[in-house]
Amino acid sequence: MASICYGFGASSGLSPLSRFLSYLGHRPRPESPVFWLSESVDAKVLPHAFVRVGFSRGIMGEGRNLVGVDIGTASIKVCQVKETRKGLGLVRLGYAPLGPQAIVDGQVMDAAAVIETLQKVFQDAKIRQKECALSVSGQSVIIRKITVPMMTEAELEEQIQWEAEQHIPFDIKDVHVDYQVLRRRAEASQMDLLLVAAKRDQIEEYLQLARNAKLRPVVCDIDAFTVQNLFEYSRSLPVDQTIALINVGASLSSLNIIANGVSAFTREIANGGNVITEEIQKQLNVPHDQAEAYKCGGSGDPNQAGMIPQQVVQVVEAVSDTIAAEIQRSLDFFMATSGEGEIARIYVTGGSANLAALARAIERRARVSVETWSPIEKLSIEAKEVDPVLLQTRAAQLSVALGLSLRKEKEARA
Ligand SMILES: Nc1ncnc2c1ncn2[C@@H]1O[C@H](COP(=O)(O)OP(=O)(O)OP(=O)(O)O)[C@@H](O)[C@H]1O
Ligand SMILES: [Mg+2]
Repeated sequence: MASICYGFGASSGLSPLSRFLSYLGHRPRPESPVFWLSESVDAKVLPHAFVRVGFSRGIMGEGRNLVGVDIGTASIKVCQVKETRKGLGLVRLGYAPLGPQAIVDGQVMDAAAVIETLQKVFQDAKIRQKECALSVSGQSVIIRKITVPMMTEAELEEQIQWEAEQHIPFDIKDVHVDYQVLRRRAEASQMDLLLVAAKRDQIEEYLQLARNAKLRPVVCDIDAFTVQNLFEYSRSLPVDQTIALINVGASLSSLNIIANGVSAFTREIANGGNVITEEIQKQLNVPHDQAEAYKCGGSGDPNQAGMIPQQVVQVVEAVSDTIAAEIQRSLDFFMATSGEGEIARIYVTGGSANLAALARAIERRARVSVETWSPIEKLSIEAKEVDPVLLQTRAAQLSVALGLSLRKEKEARA
C-alpha cells in the first residue's frame, strides 16, 4: 500500500511524519511512503488530513470508516459504509443538488449555500457521525511524476520542498507539498516519486466549509486517488496492464492512468457535463433545468414524458466528442512521454458517464475499449435508511464519496 499524506500536525521538534504517526499511535517505518502537505493548521480542530494513493484490503487501519463527503460542482454526495463479512455495506446515503452558482468551475462562490446543503444532506440521510473525509481537485492540485537521485527517507523529507519548487508552477509557500515513492531503481541510483501539491487556500476553504457545517474533517484526499482506491477495492488493479480511470463530473473530468498497479499519470480536464447542458440551453433556447432534463433523458415536462428533440441528441454527441478529444490529448501525451505499454482498457465513471454517447466518443477516439464502471458494483445495502432508488439513480456519481468512505479514523501505513 502506498500513502500520500496531507499532514496537519501541531508544531513540535518532531518531523511532520513523526508528529502525524505519533498522533495516530504508530511509529514511522523507514519505508513508509508518506506525503505531508502542511504545517500546523489547528491541531485541536483538525488533527490531520492526508491523501492516499493505493488501497489494500486488510491494512486499512483502525477505528470507524469516515463519512465520505464529496462536494462536487453540481451536487453533494455523502456515503457512510461499514465493512461486513460480505464486503462493503452502505449504511447511509445522502445526495443534494447545488444551485448552478454555488460552485463555479471548482470555485466556491456561495459558501453559505454549500454549508446549508451539507448540513441538510447529513440531516436528511440521518448521519450523526461527524468525522469525515473530503477531497479536492481542479486547477489548484498539481500531481507530477518526477525522478530524483536515490536518497534516504530522511534526506527526501528535507529535500522535497526544493524538488517541488523545480516542478510546481505555484509559489511553494502557497501549497502543501507531499510525495510518494513509486519505485526505487538501484541500478540507476534514482527513484521515481509522485509529487503532489495542493493550494493551501483551497484545502483550507473546503475544510472550513465542513467545519462550518459542524463536521470534523479528518482526511483530505484528491478526487482521482479516491476513485482509484475504490476501483482497487472493487476490482483490484492489474499488475501487468495499463488502464485509465476517468471520472467525468459536471465541470471537471479527472483522468488517472494506472500502469502496473500504480498511478502513472493524472490530469484534470476543465470540462464535463455542464458544457453539454449549456450547449443544449443555447442551441434550443430553453432554460437550464429543461436543458438538464433533456440531457438526462427526460423532457423536463411531465406532459411530454420521453419526448426528447433530435437536436438534443446531436448536441450531446457533438459535445461528448469535444470532451473525448480533450481526454485523447492527455492520453496521447501520456503515451508519448511515459514509455509505458498501450492502454488496455478505459473505465468511465462520474455523473456524465450516464451518457452512453460519451463512452462511445471516448472509445472512438482512443481506439481502446471503454467500460462504464459502476462504483456500487460491490456494495450491499446494510440499512433500511438507504433509499435503493436514490442509490441506483445516483450510482455513477458516487465514486468519490464512496472512495472517501473507505478511509478510517486511524490508519496504519504499510
Ligand atoms: N442520467 C444522467 N444522464 C446524463 N448526465 C447526467 C445524468 N445524471 C447526472 N448527469 C450529469 O452528471 C454531472 C454531475 O456528475 P457528478 O455528480 O459526478 O459531478 P460533480 O461531482 O457534482 O461535479 P465535478 O466533479 O465536476 O465538480 C452533471 O453534469 C449532470 O448533468
Ligand atoms: Mg465530482
